[in-house]
Amino acid sequence: MLKIGVLVSGGGTNLQAIIDKIESGYIPNSQIVTIVSNKKEAYAVERAKSHNIEAVVISKKQFESNELFNKALISHFISRNVDLIVLAGFLSILDSSFIKAYKNRIINIHPSLIPSFCGTGFYGLNVHKAVIEKGVKITGATVHFVDEGTDTGPIIAQKAVEVKEDDTPESLQQRVMEEAEWIILPQTIKLIAEGKLKIGN
Ligand code: GRF
Repeated sequence: MLKIGVLVSGGGTNLQAIIDKIESGYIPNSQIVTIVSNKKEAYAVERAKSHNIEAVVISKKQFESNELFNKALISHFISRNVDLIVLAGFLSILDSSFIKAYKNRIINIHPSLIPSFCGTGFYGLNVHKAVIEKGVKITGATVHFVDEGTDTGPIIAQKAVEVKEDDTPESLQQRVMEEAEWIILPQTIKLIAEGKLKIGN
């Protein structure tokens, strides 16, 4: 059984995609054993609860330092015997202690075709605003392993999405989520669950 822990900060549509694909059997032999949000108001928390998945709030504000925040995250996931950590719209910084504790067992979904439009400041709608301002005709999403950089770990999967003339950042974000993120993130987890994509050392 692949035990999955998901880190969220927002609406949780990527979390929902994973929940749906596990419940449909598309992702085999897997269970989301816990989700952690750094924001108590995140709708992702409601999504988890309505599927009887443990949802806890662990935010940096509860700790004296980022180091103690990360230690709390590590001990939470270890206590749940998590094998794979998925960052799904998570907007807090994971430090080197966390990355080392879960080396090659953390994946992230980024709403652009890395190495374009990624790195510090490129999250959420900011990504799509920059894509439209630059005038690129193709964008998309990327799933990658998380290393100590920002959006710099080894790329696992990508899917391209057309940018339309009349796109707004909001309409583009929605299409990138529908046509790319919600497809390649579950696809990647399926490969891991089937043993076709190795994780860990
Ligand atoms: C969205 O901007 C998505 O593109 C990115 O994180 C944000 C929130 O996603 N991956 P979600 O709805 O919370 O999964």
